[in-house]
Amino acid sequence: MSIVEKIQRLKKEKDGVILAHYYVKPEIQEIADYIGDSFYLSKIAAGLTEKTIVFCGVSFMGESAKILNPDKTVLMPDRRADCAMAHMADAESIKRLREKYKDLAVVCYINSMAELKCYSDVCVTSANAVRIVKALPNKYIYFIPDRNLAHYVAEQVPEKNFIFNEGYCPVHERIELSEIRKLKETHPEAEILTHPECPKNIRDISDYIGSTSGILNYAAESEGKEFIICTENGVRYELEKQNPEKLFYFTETEPVCEDMKLITLEKLAYVLETGENEICVSDEVIKKAAKALQNMLEIAG
Ligand code: 13P
Ligand code: SF4
Repeated sequence: MSIVEKIQRLKKEKDGVILAHYYVKPEIQEIADYIGDSFYLSKIAAGLTEKTIVFCGVSFMGESAKILNPDKTVLMPDRRADCAMAHMADAESIKRLREKYKDLAVVCYINSMAELKCYSDVCVTSANAVRIVKALPNKYIYFIPDRNLAHYVAEQVPEKNFIFNEGYCPVHERIELSEIRKLKETHPEAEILTHPECPKNIRDISDYIGSTSGILNYAAESEGKEFIICTENGVRYELEKQNPEKLFYFTETEPVCEDMKLITLEKLAYVLETGENEICVSDEVIKKAAKALQNMLEIAG
């Protein structure tokens, strides 16, 4: 029996469902029941009927699935798969700023650990951050943890006052402007599609800025034939699958999230078989953090 057949058999036995982010390896994307960006996956996670969710992504994704499904078993193929940015903010600064600004909304990028969500008013993803911040009644916005997404949103919502935090994604922050320029010289017709986790100098030369799904939709709908993609290289698989006649270029130093790549078919089969690597979140944290996630789902629809 192949490893894929084994996973399919175990999935049936355990009443399991597999969720995967576009940044994981192609063979994991292939076997997933649902594949998407962070917003799509949280919407899906909120409405699942299966008993066991296997989340092929990084820790904040598994945690969010558990918070939205406290009665289900949530497993992660590799517990070491973490997001560095998810730890780059702290509860103390939230408490301090709440004292200082009475009309403050704490807006928490979903790429954050559950503890941070507990102190936040609403979660956002890169797909809905602008829409949600615009919809909030508050004038002051403390946006954690990502400074790049925060600045991007602030540019789109100039009527609000932003307080920034110094978190960032090491993968998107490493994308080099000089390497994009080099690609553009060789492929002058190519459109530049960029994730908002990239720094401003990259966003400023882009034709489109949006979440992983936004980039996929733009590439599919554009009449252009060539694209320079400024995000994690796992997206290449779906881009090429959906658009076999189009060409996609990534920078020479390819942006790779090593944590996402920790997930393998063998580890996926192992956790389904053994039930190991279960995500556990205390009832108190679930109660508090669920509010911020539910607020996001409600406002973003
Ligand atoms: P998306 O919200 O586009 O899925 O991005 C998630 C992420 O981790 C980007 O680095
Ligand atoms: Fe976190 Fe960056 Fe990896 Fe996304 S690509 S999971 S933000 S480290």
